Amino acid sequence: MRKVRASIIGFGSVGQGVAEVLLKKDDELKSLGIDIDVVAISDSRGSEVNTEGIDLKAAIERKRESGTVAVEDLTGEYVIRNVDHDVVIETTPTDIETGGTGLVNMLAAFENSRDVVTSNKGPLTLKYQELMQAAEESDCKFRFEATVGGAMPIINLIKSTLAGNEIKSIEGILNGTCNYILTRMMEEKASYEQMLAESKELGIAETDPTYDVEGIDAACKLVILANSIFGQNATFQDVEVTGITKITPESLALAYDDGYVIKLIGEVKKDRLRVSPRLVPASHPLAVGGTLNVASVHTDLAGTVTVTGRGAGSIETASAILSDVVSIYRE
Ligand code: HSE
Repeated sequence: MRKVRASIIGFGSVGQGVAEVLLKKDDELKSLGIDIDVVAISDSRGSEVNTEGIDLKAAIERKRESGTVAVEDLTGEYVIRNVDHDVVIETTPTDIETGGTGLVNMLAAFENSRDVVTSNKGPLTLKYQELMQAAEESDCKFRFEATVGGAMPIINLIKSTLAGNEIKSIEGILNGTCNYILTRMMEEKASYEQMLAESKELGIAETDPTYDVEGIDAACKLVILANSIFGQNATFQDVEVTGITKITPESLALAYDDGYVIKLIGEVKKDRLRVSPRLVPASHPLAVGGTLNVASVHTDLAGTVTVTGRGAGSIETASAILSDVVSIYRE
């Protein structure tokens, strides 16, 4: 049995989802040869540290009741540097302007020889090569399936299952909020503003939903795919981005009458990164509705492989994080 000591840094919706999933899946993890003890949890107000293993149920309850898990005034970075553990599960909020505390935390983890599993897009969008180099130099594992498409497998699908294939391009819907807004605007003939308000209530929109509707969130995911799959050194500036703010219910209805839906499609090719609203035939595999994400991977050997799944949500994102943890420590 491999004993794994983990920290959860960032205890918002995704961090709490990870704790819930670890509680629920203890037996399954043990049957895979992994025994995980969470020895530290941090949020923006402080941390709980217990080298014997934290009571996750009590931590989740405390967070929900009092708004924080903190019992000590210790930052996530302090915990990463000073508490002995194997893997940092980094789930602090995405900051695509500076990388935020996520970037500081990941670099601190590698400096202290800890593996990192993350859902945080910001640091990977801004400093992909620097982070990969830091991980490599300290001989640490770095996994980030949860940053693109939530529970929808895409990075590990391409790197593992499709290994050996030449990846020609990837295209798909990588933002659940925009998909929800466009789907509902078409179905309900409701205004963009109304649906934006509704999508905020669903809890899948970014803290600043401009990131979703302007195509910025999808662009970040394209950058992560371009860098991790095509070995590029792309940043957000390399993506041509158009969002969905100018799409009207009338244009969606006109498209529908002709057998099309309008979707915000992200496209990754070796020489082009683009996010834009596009007409998609209503029966096409990319024409999924609701909050779903979808991606078609065009390859030389396997042809086109299309996956779809829930691109956001606490438990769904935790599913991708759990799979990354398992892939590192499974015996
Ligand atoms: N706001 C994002 C979305 C969350 O709607 O897809 C997942 O990155």
